[in-house]
Amino acid sequence: MTETPSILILNGPNLNMLGLREPAIYGRDTLADIADACARSAAAHGIGADFRQSNNEGELVGWIQEARGTRRGIIINAGAYTHTSIAILDALLASELPIVEVHLSNIFRREEFRHTSYISRAASGVICGFGLSSYVLAIDAMARLIEPA
Ligand code: DQA
Repeated sequence: MTETPSILILNGPNLNMLGLREPAIYGRDTLADIADACARSAAAHGIGADFRQSNNEGELVGWIQEARGTRRGIIINAGAYTHTSIAILDALLASELPIVEVHLSNIFRREEFRHTSYISRAASGVICGFGLSSYVLAIDAMARLIEPA
């Protein structure tokens, strides 16, 4: 029997505030709603998903480091660290795993400072602008990236 592939789904700062935080931009779905949708979607693909959130850059870096050799891929919404964190970029590159970057909002319709993502240099692709569905689409993309050749 082959082992169920496992992926890490990481969420950065302030994403624990979803549902309350700027609903006109981020919608009314909570992080728990997104976690449920991800669990359902991953299960439908036969993938295990470990869904986590942290407001701390170092904690996110630690989790990415742990994923090397233990997970098959990483889906990441790094929140505002997307636009600032070389440390998260370096950790993603060092993981040598397929990476899918996600955002709830369409960062390219927003302020100029959100148009730059450090994370994208490590990512196979980026999905943004579809709210909760961005994560479900990211799982679909990841399933294709990790399916056996
Ligand atoms: C976000 C976009 C970022 O610019 C912002 O800082 C976030 C959320 C998104 O999911 O749309 O915290 O990553």
